[in-house]
Amino acid sequence: MLIGIDQMAFATSDKYVDMVDLAHARNQEPGKFLIGIGQTEQAVIPVTQDVVTMGANAAEQVVDDSNRDAIDLVIFGTESGVDNSKSAAIYVQRLLNLNRYARTIEMKQACYAGTAGLMMARDYIAAHPGKKALIIAADIARYGLETAGEVTQGGGAVAMIVSENPQILALNDDSQYMSADIMDFWRPVYRTEALVDGHYSANIYEDFFKEVWDRYREVTGNSINDFKAFAFHLPFTKMGLKGLREILPEADESKQTDLLEEFEASRVYNKRIGNLYTGSLYLSLISLLSNSTDLQAGDRLGLFSYGSGAEGEFYSGILQPNYKAGLKTDFGALFEKRQRVSIAEYEAIFNKSLPIDGTDLELDVSDDSAHFVLGGLQAEQRQYFAH
Ligand code: COA
Repeated sequence: MLIGIDQMAFATSDKYVDMVDLAHARNQEPGKFLIGIGQTEQAVIPVTQDVVTMGANAAEQVVDDSNRDAIDLVIFGTESGVDNSKSAAIYVQRLLNLNRYARTIEMKQACYAGTAGLMMARDYIAAHPGKKALIIAADIARYGLETAGEVTQGGGAVAMIVSENPQILALNDDSQYMSADIMDFWRPVYRTEALVDGHYSANIYEDFFKEVWDRYREVTGNSINDFKAFAFHLPFTKMGLKGLREILPEADESKQTDLLEEFEASRVYNKRIGNLYTGSLYLSLISLLSNSTDLQAGDRLGLFSYGSGAEGEFYSGILQPNYKAGLKTDFGALFEKRQRVSIAEYEAIFNKSLPIDGTDLELDVSDDSAHFVLGGLQAEQRQYFAH
């Protein structure tokens, strides 16, 4: 039985900041941000959006009456959750009118949790044929103004339906994964910005990729030549290139050229959105599938998931004939409607936060074009609605 990703969709905010503007404001060479980091634009997330609203805005594109009742597992992967107890998945369940008889949970392990959710969903469907799962991978990447990590911020949500006979990607049962206690990136519960040892985390990412890749080759007998393309977790798009370069020498020159070409397709959208932590690998997969001109049904794709702290997983999937029909987001329209904000506006949005002393707040949502928004706080409860 084939099990895998049947549909995928993406949502983010309708505002972005240009990386050349940011470079000028921070007295950096634009080339460092555009090429050295590999980012051209970055989503700016207003206070009227959070992981719940973005998750719901992504998920509503993949949920309809044909699958609503069959979805009885909703896993929300995030490290920027809005509550230390209640799962973001439950809010999405209500906003989308999902099945009452469903399991709705939130999972966390830095940028890796979405992959854990996907793999658990695959196993769940294998054990319960006919069921479907909704996986949401959503985050807001915040490092702080004028930090080295600022250029690697962003935010958004990817929603995926996992089912039998998937339209997009059949997951092979070949995952290789590892974890180890490493302090490369973390966020204590009292902080809204992550703490990171940036260069160290980039080194660990490469080390973990190489280790799970070598293990994968050993266990499965597959080699780089068995892959049409790779998609990487992209905290910034140069990071994936560094990963790919680790293994490129295993291929001949023409295969290297092909893989580099596919890599360019896999980072088109991430360059313009920035980091969305656990959703980044899956935005990259959407980017690859949408922008590559050379993919065919039956191609084997390799995916590397990495979450600081640290956990890494490499797995493969087989591209399905109708994969384009499973991609639900119109990226042309998404980019078209985005509004470019100045550095001063971005900084003001960045600094605007919800009260943490229990006071009520009503937010002005008139400037937010998303369907689901956060309207404020009442009695310490977030007020979500469609508008
Ligand atoms: N033109 C082109 N490239 C340039 C350049 C220019 N004018 N100036 C610098 N660069 C290159 C550097 O050579 C470097 O490339 P390399 O990584 O291939 O060596 C790259 O730009 C980044 O420069 P660097 O000086 O290393 O940047 P930094 O010290 O400001 O930090 C990060 C970069 C990624 C470490 C930082 O943004 C960060 O901490 N990000 C958050 C953590 C993260 O995303 N970790 C990833 C693992 S999950």
